[in-house]
Amino acid sequence: MTTPTDPRRGFSRRSFLKGTAAASVAGAGLTATAPALAPPEPAKFGPGEHEITLAINGENRKVTVETRTTLLDALRDGLDLTGCKKICDRGACGGCTVLLDGEPVNGCLTLAMDGVGAEITTVESLTQGGEVHPLLESFAHCDAMQCGFCTPGMVMTSLACLNRRGKPTRAQMAHDLSGNICRCGTYGRIMDAIERTANGGGR
Ligand code: FES
Ligand code: FES
Repeated sequence: MTTPTDPRRGFSRRSFLKGTAAASVAGAGLTATAPALAPPEPAKFGPGEHEITLAINGENRKVTVETRTTLLDALRDGLDLTGCKKICDRGACGGCTVLLDGEPVNGCLTLAMDGVGAEITTVESLTQGGEVHPLLESFAHCDAMQCGFCTPGMVMTSLACLNRRGKPTRAQMAHDLSGNICRCGTYGRIMDAIERTANGGGR
């Protein structure tokens, strides 16, 4: 049987209590001398409206938003960039796709505030300066739309796919487009348009 002072246990109850008391004294000393570290004040937003600046298609644009305003609403209602479509408004269709630092995001699931400091690209950028982007030309050439409602989101996701992969395979296209829904079922022709652009078509 072991006792509180049994050497096999390595310490006794008395030494443990002594150690605890010493640690408390040392801790109290630290508390007394260490300067108080106040956490930095976080930036406060809301309630109410705030003016923010978003870098969109290479231009700085000011827009007034609430903290809850989505990027989609800021673009459509605040800046009149209506290319991105508000269809499901819950991240299910991809019709609102824009690029945030080159990555496709659902504008309806992204807060406008989260776009501050990022490079935002919308479908309007593909006709800037009177030039039509080859991908848009390929969508028209391949007849890659019927009602056209999904098309702006499809174009932006296709653009990100091309930028990321260069010459994507059909499987890679299907993977990248999997968040975009086309109720008219034009997926095959959209892939034709991506393939044509990757092969230099539309230039
Ligand atoms: S409107 Fe954003 S995913 Fe449908
Ligand atoms: S072309 Fe009609 S939903 Fe895609």
